[in-house]
Amino acid sequence: MPAIKACLFDLDGVIVDTARFHYIAWRQLANDLGFDLSEEENEKLKGISRMESLEIILAIGGVELSEEEKSERAAVKNTRYLELCMQMTPDDTLPGVRRFLDELKSASIKIGLGSASKNAKVILDRIDMLSYFETIVDGNRVTKGKPDPQVFLMGAADLQTLPENSVVFEDAVAGVQSAKAAGMLAVGIGEKSVLTEADIVVPGFRDFQLADLLEAFEK
Ligand code: BG6
Ligand code: MG
Repeated sequence: MPAIKACLFDLDGVIVDTARFHYIAWRQLANDLGFDLSEEENEKLKGISRMESLEIILAIGGVELSEEEKSERAAVKNTRYLELCMQMTPDDTLPGVRRFLDELKSASIKIGLGSASKNAKVILDRIDMLSYFETIVDGNRVTKGKPDPQVFLMGAADLQTLPENSVVFEDAVAGVQSAKAAGMLAVGIGEKSVLTEADIVVPGFRDFQLADLLEAFEK
């Protein structure tokens, strides 16, 4: 196995539990339009860009909107989402994440962010994590969303690291597919039964050390 030189992290659901705020805000949008959005349906939205998510939700509700109305509804959703995010503090960083990133830094492994979110920098700033990332590839930079590999290939290029020396941490099916399409190792954050294409799956960083990562991939 090649040496691990860079780790690329998804944001929502990996660094911080913002997935619940996305769900609340999307559900509110669906309710405003007269239908509900289940948690199961919401699962399909993980890792997917804002406007693509809106299209999926409108299809679920069988609602058609003009392009102008789509933009307006998406903007309202984003305002609500950000209001919820502003309640967060650095303590909302998911358990073990800060310690794991500190371990990577001490081992001179490069750290990057690969997120579909256009709010990535605002959220990282909110939880005081901006300074950890040598590069941030977010929804403002990519032209192709996950499962396309673009987001992680851009991240590895920024870090001057080859895909085979890069590991991606992802909680979304589309994100794991993006990592694999980029030719990278994928650590799924969540459940094995959902993230079937990941190389390994862990529930989170609480009990996951750099030594575990090296043991999994460098033996
Ligand atoms: C991803 C989330 O990280 O970002 C998706 O998993 C979200 O749920 C997407 O839709 C876009 O986020 P934002 O913040 O730009 O609306
Ligand atoms: Mg995610």
